[in-house]
Formats: sequence, C-alpha cells, structure tokens
Amino acid sequence: MDFGKTPDGTPVDMYVLSNGRITVKVITYGAIITEIDVPDRHGKLGDVVLGFDNLAGYLGGHPYFGAATGRVANRIARGEFTLDGKDYKLAVNNPPNSLHGGLKGFDKVVWKAHDASGPIGPAVRLTYLSPDGEEGYPGNLAVGVTYTVMPDAELKIDYTATTDKATPVNLTNHSYFNLAGPASGTILDHEVMLPSDQYTPVDETMIPTGEIRPVRGTPLDFTKPATFGARIDEIKGQPGGYDHNYVVGGDHKRPILAARVREPASGRVVEMFTTEPGVQLYTANFLDGTLKGRGGVVYKKQQAFCLEAQHFPDAVHHANFPSIILRPGATYTQTTIYRFSADQATSR
Ligand code: BGC
Repeated sequence: MDFGKTPDGTPVDMYVLSNGRITVKVITYGAIITEIDVPDRHGKLGDVVLGFDNLAGYLGGHPYFGAATGRVANRIARGEFTLDGKDYKLAVNNPPNSLHGGLKGFDKVVWKAHDASGPIGPAVRLTYLSPDGEEGYPGNLAVGVTYTVMPDAELKIDYTATTDKATPVNLTNHSYFNLAGPASGTILDHEVMLPSDQYTPVDETMIPTGEIRPVRGTPLDFTKPATFGARIDEIKGQPGGYDHNYVVGGDHKRPILAARVREPASGRVVEMFTTEPGVQLYTANFLDGTLKGRGGVVYKKQQAFCLEAQHFPDAVHHANFPSIILRPGATYTQTTIYRFSADQATSR
C-alpha cells in the first residue's frame, strides 16, 4: 500500500499484517511499526503504540517511534571506537555521544520489502544494504528484519546481518507502547515485571560505567511486579524516569521472557521474549508535549514505555560486555517476540 514519497522521491510502502487477533502496520521508511492493534479484556481492538497518521509525521522528526534502530542501537561514548587497531569517528548526535546509528540511522532510510508470509502467519521481510563508511561505520552491511504476526496475538521480529569488514552491529526495535492506547495519558499505572536482577549503571552522559550491579533494593527492582509510577520519583537527575539497560539471562539462542507489562484498566498485557543479553527499559522521559501524533494526540512525558531488546549500550568500550562485533563470514541474528494478551474480566 502506498504511504507517500520521501523528499528525494523514493516511494514508501505500508504493509498490513493481520490474523484477526493482532494487526501490525509496518512502513518501509525506517522499517517502522506504525500501529499495533490488539484486543482488550472485552475483545475490543485498540492501538497500543505511538505513531503518526502519515509519512510527513515520520519525516518531521521524532524519537525513533517504532523504528528499527541501528547500525548500533543506544550510545557509543564520544562517537568513537577502535576496532582491530583502526580508529573510527561517528556523528555525535546526542552530545557528547553517538546515539542509535548517527544522523541518518536505519530508522531514516527506505528499506526494500517483500511479502514473507508463510505457514506461521502473515509476514514482511525488509532489507537494507548499509554501504561501507555509512555514518562512519566500516563494511558493507546487509541487514534484514522480518516482522511476522503469529497466532495468539504475537509479533515476532527476526533480524539478520552480514558484513564484508568487521563492524559493530546492535539492532533493536524502538516501539513506544501504551497498553491503554496512545491517547490515554502516562503509563505510570502500568504494572511491570522484569525477571532481570542486574543492570548496567551509567554516568551522567548515559554511558555505562562498566559495572554490572544488582537491582535489589533500588527503584529498578521489578523482579516482583510493581507499577512504573511506584518508585519512579526516586530516580534523580534530568529528565528522570527509567532509561536503564537490564541484563537478560538465558542462552541467547532461544528467546526468553525479559519483560511483562500489564495495564489494569484495559487488561492488556505485553510480554517480551528475546535472544538478546539486554533490554533497555525507557519510559519516554524525553517526550515533552511538543509532538502531535495520530489523530492530533499530544505526546507528553512518560506517555509510553519502550522495551528495547539489544546488546548493552557502549559495548564497543567494555570488554566485559557481550561483544557486538560482527566479522565477515558470520551472521548476526536476533529474535524478539512481543506477545499480547488480556487478563480476565474483573467483577465490575
Ligand atoms: C534511549 C534514550 C533515548 C531514546 C531516544 C532510548 O533508547 O535509552 O536515552 O532518549 O532512546 O528516543
């Protein structure tokens, strides 16, 4: 389906994946998920992600709504790294660091797409060839992301990447969820459970110190369910709120549960399963009421949450973090599943 053209005339398409229980809309610009419709506890379908009505909204600038983020998601300190003895410089687009792939990351390019539907369900595969030197990164990187809608209201995202020179790669999806619907105010009353008992603390520029610390006894501890709002005020600094990388267990071959969030009024639940070693929990602290989304809704601070399955931030500078270096001959893979459901109707 036609979704307009970029300023240089490149056509952008929308794919609609639906199995009746879940509908996911994806555009070829940024491999962005623009909409996810899932039932509430009464079976009523509703959108649970922030987004815009049209391409102009996405072209107008926004903090990675629904996008495939790369070549390296999250931050690289000072926008520089050394690989195999060679120094590389990246755009410092989030001073003093580089964020989410640079000035024109994978969220701002037009991907190729084809229908990849199969026995599991409707699917679209998007591919992009990131040329050697793009945004300062080495190697021609062939990236693929497949969005598959599976039975039981699941969205599966499979990524692959291969390269002809060693390069860092860290891909994620940056959907902003609000399980009560994007127009319904903050997510502070959503209840969250994160099995992770460790996180990677950061300095004042959001770069990990390298430590891996227990969450126990801190407002980051969601090993027992609690609302986002319960202790969010204890997180000091500006803009405050959750923006932390949690350590995910498992063997990183099969996806395991990394997060569960429930919204009490609608009963909607999302569970995230991933092969990734980390998940960035971000409560959209930088939304400030200046962006108007779908249907004219104004997006305010903490009106959404992101669960970004990924390798740890700034992994290129921390030998004790799982490596994000992809070498020729090897294939990067990552699988993340968002499973939606609704809890049982309560007595009223
Ligand atoms: C980061 C935030 C950042 C946001 C940009 C998240 O992945 O953790 O610090 O502000 O992306 O939208």
